[in-house]
Amino acid sequence: KPLFVKIPGSDLPTQIETRFKVTVVGVGNVGMACAQTCLTEDLVDELALVDIQADKLRGEMLDLQHAAAFLPRVKIVADTDYAISAGSDICIVTAGARQREGESRPSLLGRNLTLFKSIIPQLVHYSPNAILLIVSNPVDILTYVSWKLSGFPPNRVIGTGTNLDSSRLRFLIADKFDVNAHNVHGYMVGEHGDSSVPLWSTLTLANVPVLNVRDKNGVSYSKESLQELHRTVVESAYEVIKLKGYTSWAIGYSTASLVKSLLRDQRRIYPVSVRAKGFYGIENEVYLSLPSQLGRAGVLGVANVKMGEEEMQKLQQSAKTIWKLQSELEF
Ligand code: NAI
Ligand code: 2OP
Repeated sequence: KPLFVKIPGSDLPTQIETRFKVTVVGVGNVGMACAQTCLTEDLVDELALVDIQADKLRGEMLDLQHAAAFLPRVKIVADTDYAISAGSDICIVTAGARQREGESRPSLLGRNLTLFKSIIPQLVHYSPNAILLIVSNPVDILTYVSWKLSGFPPNRVIGTGTNLDSSRLRFLIADKFDVNAHNVHGYMVGEHGDSSVPLWSTLTLANVPVLNVRDKNGVSYSKESLQELHRTVVESAYEVIKLKGYTSWAIGYSTASLVKSLLRDQRRIYPVSVRAKGFYGIENEVYLSLPSQLGRAGVLGVANVKMGEEEMQKLQQSAKTIWKLQSELEF
C-alpha cells in the first residue's frame, strides 16, 4: 500500500517551483568548498554542478547526494552540459587554473580568460536573470570580463574580491585582541591580493579604532605594525598554497556569506568586486572591491565610507594596476 494517502478533496500541485537555484561551475577545491558551504548553511533548494571532467563531476555529485540524511532537502544535479544550470538565481564561477607555489594571480589571466569566453555565454543563455558571482583568479579582471561578456547590468555581476582578504585581516586582529572576529569591523578594498588596500580608519573593535587600544599582550599598534599585518594578509594565500597546494575553505565560507545576503535579501555590506568607475576618484573602467550592499537584486549600492587621502591614493593605484593588465586584453 502507498506510504501516503491524499486527503479527499485536496488540491496538490504536481510540481513545486524551486525557490533558490545555485550553479557552481568548476568542481575543484574551491567549487566544492563553495557548494558544501552553501549546502550546510541551508541556502539553496537546487544545486547544479558543471565541469568539463565528467567523472569527477559525477563523483562529486554522488558524494554530496550521499549526505542527504544529514543535510536539508536539496536537489543536487550535475552535468557537463550547461542546460543543467537553467533558471539559476546565482551562478558561481570557480573554474580554471590556480596558482602554483609562488605564482601570482595575474599570471592565470591568459588561461582563464579563454575558459570564460566559453563559460559565461552559456550561463547567460540558460539563466538570463541570474547574478554572476565570480571567484576564479585574477578575480577582479575576470569579473570585468564576465560583465562585458554577459551584457548583464553591473549590479548582477560581482566578484568575491577582498571579502576574503578582509576576513583574513579580521582574523589576525581578533586573534591579537582575543575577541570574536565578528566584532572586528573593517574593510580591505581594491584588488584581491597583492595591491589590496586596508582601510585602517574603518578598523574598529567595539566601535573603538584599533589604533587606540592595546591587544591582549598589552601591545599598542602603530601605522608600521598595521602595515606588517597587511603584509601578512597579502602573504597568507601564498603561504597556504605553499603548505597545502591551494586555498579553499575560507573562500568557500566567504562565497556562501555573499550568497546568503544576495538570495535572502539581507542587505549586508561586504567588500566585493564591483564596477568601480566614478567611485573614490577611480577613472578607469575596472572592477575592484569597495564596501557594497548586497541584496536580492545584486549590488544595491556602494557605501560612502570615510577614506583618508593616502588610502584613496592607494585605492586609485590599485585600480591602475588592474587597468594596466586589463587594457591589454582582447576578447
Ligand atoms: P582546481 O584545479 O581544484 O579546480 C578547477 C576546476 O575547474 C577543475 O575541476 C577543472 O576541471 C575545472 N575546469 C577547467 N576548465 C573548465 C571549463 N572550461 N569549464 C568548467 N570547468 C572547468 O582549482 P581550485 O583550487 O578550485 O581553484 C579554482 C580557481 O579559484 C582558481 O582560479 C583559483 O586561483 C581561484 N581562487 C580564487 C579565490 C578568490 O579569493 N577569488 C580563492 C581561491 C582560489
Ligand atoms: C586566495 O587568496 C588564491 O586568491 C586565492 O586564497
